[in-house]
Amino acid sequence: MTLGRVLVVVPTFNERDNLEIIAQRLRSAVPDAHLLVVDDNSPDGTGKLADELADRDDHVHVLHRDAKSGLGAAYVAGFAWAREHDYDVVVEMDADGSHAPEQLPRLLAALENADLVLGSRYVPGGSVVNWPRSRELLSRGGNLYTRMLLRLPLQDATGGYRAYRRSVLDTLPLGEISSQGYCFQVDLAWQTWQQGYRVVEVPITFVERERGESKMSRKIVVEALWRVTLWGLRSGRSKGAAGLDAG
Ligand code: GDD
Ligand code: MN
Repeated sequence: MTLGRVLVVVPTFNERDNLEIIAQRLRSAVPDAHLLVVDDNSPDGTGKLADELADRDDHVHVLHRDAKSGLGAAYVAGFAWAREHDYDVVVEMDADGSHAPEQLPRLLAALENADLVLGSRYVPGGSVVNWPRSRELLSRGGNLYTRMLLRLPLQDATGGYRAYRRSVLDTLPLGEISSQGYCFQVDLAWQTWQQGYRVVEVPITFVERERGESKMSRKIVVEALWRVTLWGLRSGRSKGAAGLDAG
């Protein structure tokens, strides 16, 4: 592979029943890739389990954080770790089995000709398995709203299965990112696209978790809604102002 060293960052909060399976699947699907578990001091002992996995396997690493502070903050910490340890490619993947490690080679192959590859549920060939209709409507609606407001030409900007060239992450102001929940995903996709990087979507099959609980909440939805709205208004205004300046 010409891309260099790959780090898969997996944030965890109470994923004890999922972590070992996803780690095994990843290790056999892409044996060269390293895994970094970013655990927010899960009360169920996920962090301890992660330490045990890391003791047995030199491709597994753990970053312990003090308390649950959101998906965004966990990823920012994981990205900093990737930079310190000089990985060339950084992958985001959920711990609960929704993102199949067996599809990671597809994302990495696409990254050969892109700077950010999104695993997409909503391009031809992509799908969602076992989501209630309400959750799929929320997700599709969120993506539609994002596409319209930000004029972001992506079908699945909220998804959390993606691969970045680290050189992209190096140019994003990660220290200033205030998105906490899942809108972190939109935030980074949008910033990457705005910088002119090549963003490509490849189809994935997203399978709803069988064990443990989703951390999705009303708070996360509300945060995404108001932030996307704010970004949309701001960018609309700056485009409008530029138009006025031009006469
Ligand atoms: N460290 C840490 N801290 N991990 C977290 C936190 C947190 O505060 N919140 C969630 N996670 C971890 C979970 O343990 C899991 O591994 C992953 O982040 C995704 O969380 P889920 O709760 O399973 O998300 P979901 O299935 O509802 O949402 C999926 O779809 C969203 C919308 O498309 C994910 O792929 C999201 O990334 C995506 O935005
Ligand atoms: Mn999930």
